[in-house]
Amino acid sequence: MTTMESLIGLVNRIQMACTALGDYGATNNSFSLWDQLPSVAVVGGQSSGKSSVLESMVGRDFLPRGSGIVTRRPLVLQLHKTDEGQQEYAEFGHLPRTPFTDFSLVRKEIQDETDRITGKTRQISPVPIHLSIYSPNVVNLTLIDLPGLTKVAVEEQPESVVKDIEDMVRSYVEKPNCIILAISPANQDIATSDAIKLSREVDPTGERTFGVLTKLDLMDKGTNALDVLEGRAYRLQQPWVGIVNRSQADINKNVDMIYARRKEREYFASSPDYGHLASKMGSEYLAKLLSKHLESVIRAKIPGIISVINKSIDELESEMNLLGRPISVDAGVQLYTILELCRAFDKIFKEHLDGGRPGGDR
Ligand code: GDP
Ligand code: NA
Ligand code: MG
Repeated sequence: MTTMESLIGLVNRIQMACTALGDYGATNNSFSLWDQLPSVAVVGGQSSGKSSVLESMVGRDFLPRGSGIVTRRPLVLQLHKTDEGQQEYAEFGHLPRTPFTDFSLVRKEIQDETDRITGKTRQISPVPIHLSIYSPNVVNLTLIDLPGLTKVAVEEQPESVVKDIEDMVRSYVEKPNCIILAISPANQDIATSDAIKLSREVDPTGERTFGVLTKLDLMDKGTNALDVLEGRAYRLQQPWVGIVNRSQADINKNVDMIYARRKEREYFASSPDYGHLASKMGSEYLAKLLSKHLESVIRAKIPGIISVINKSIDELESEMNLLGRPISVDAGVQLYTILELCRAFDKIFKEHLDGGRPGGDR
């Protein structure tokens, strides 16, 4: 792993330990590392392909899917890159020390945990589910899957659901540290895209929005999406990325992710319309692009992170000294973990990057 990969990995783990500590009500308020760090949120209309894009970046099937509002709570998904040859596993924030190696059980647990808060109704809830995936095949990223934007309430949902979802999604993407993955399907007019509408509102200059165009394979024959992909239809500062996910028929046939990624590569390589863009298209390229962007954002934030960490090390040490008073064992362990991770971050930073001068990744 490169130094940046290790630092981002540590930052991921600190964020997670902070979240766990928050659950015990023992956090100290000044430990606001979370606010220093970027995350990536997936935004778009219902069935635009949000969950599919997330899954193909992870290279695993594990998200509930179907028609209607399937994602009814935000899912905060932390990807942790592990060393080659390590067993892949997932772990939920609400089920500590319970590794899942069967990803179909991950999907089931997301559904069950959604129902635990919302009941069996189709209600939505802003309370996030936290899930970590440890794998040699991912890049270090925090991704947030959000309920799809809708125009009308369906089935037994109250009329307010349309606005409730929009408000929830906005509460994530309006944070200046949130990188927006704005998902639009290529078989609809980009001018009507819910993702573009909301991202334009919260990020008018387009500096933190990545435009993702799914369903290129479903466009009418004789049409193409070059106007969008080449940035003429709607200009963003980041490049547009075109995607071909698995179709519903592929999913029904259990077409696996590795095969789907290969088909996607072949689709672009052999396309008369997109061949010249092939190396800058597809879900693997999107994952790399995001990881690179995140690296540069984190690099710029290192001085801020270091100062929070140095302050926190002092505070955590004094908090640890007070641990004589009754405090849950778990909270104590979490505090200790955060302290150790902060020290590790500080050490790697001092050894490998110029003190206070981010930029030298040697
Ligand atoms: P979400 O509601 O935005 O999370 O969308 P999903 O990822 O659940 O996808 C909705 C449906 O569209 C599923 O049946 C997917 O198989 C299908 N789908 C998503 N992306 C593509 C694509 O690029 N091509 C094709 N053919 N189908 C897609
Ligand atoms: Na869906
Ligand atoms: Mg979804």
